[in-house]
Amino acid sequence: MRKGWIVCLGFLLLAGCRGQTSMDPPREIFQDMSDQPKYKAQGQSRFFADGRAMRPLVPGTIPFGGANYAADAGVLTANPDFLREDAAFYRGVVAREPGAQPPEEFIRRIPVPLTKELLERGRERYGIFCAVCHGDAGYGDGITTKYGMVGVANLHLPKYREMPDGEIYHVIANGRNTMLPYAAQIKPSDRWAIVAWVRVLQRSQHATLDDVPPEHRGELEKQP
Ligand code: HEC
Repeated sequence: MRKGWIVCLGFLLLAGCRGQTSMDPPREIFQDMSDQPKYKAQGQSRFFADGRAMRPLVPGTIPFGGANYAADAGVLTANPDFLREDAAFYRGVVAREPGAQPPEEFIRRIPVPLTKELLERGRERYGIFCAVCHGDAGYGDGITTKYGMVGVANLHLPKYREMPDGEIYHVIANGRNTMLPYAAQIKPSDRWAIVAWVRVLQRSQHATLDDVPPEHRGELEKQP
């Protein structure tokens, strides 16, 4: 009999709490240090002379994950892909003279050595990522244009032949107008490989007889 009353009372208590809202903070029985003084992001600090709670990095800091453990079994080196300090390689820009506006400009020449491997990598990556829109030869007539993709740039126009290498790199990484960015799909070294391949394509369409090795010129001259 008494058990029944207790169960009933329990139900009544629970029912009584339903539907009530409160603006008070919830009652905490065990606080467990959940309330303690702390700085919030962008907050002020009276402790540091510059008044900022967020502290700038100590120069030379290597961020967590920024060390290249695999580089040389056991020898820690800074991972360049993480720090991205080399503006030419990672952003395709160089600093202009002090005080100039804007302070940076696109680098004119690819900042990596032009090797056969780089060009081959570029040809392969271009074929995977760019040819669908820009076409195998770069005329802006890739397969997607047959299915409604409009406005794809013809990379043989003079403005693209004169475009600094760093700017093409920038377009690959960040996109431009209706072209979406490919930074997530194409790593920095491959972006430069593609830039090199775009230059190969451009050169191939504007070659002169002087580009042909002397021993083969005769064959071309014979053609009607
Ligand atoms: C999905 C289609 C598509 C793919 C893939 C694509 N592009 Fe483009 N690209 C465009 C379009 C569209 C434009 C024209 C953008 C505009 O000006 O509206 C363009 C413009 C450009 C331009 C000229 C930008 C300017 O300043 O006018 C360059 C250079 C370029 N693309 C390079 C590349 C390279 C290199 C790749 C491969 C990594 C690539 N694109 C992949 C669609 C594509």
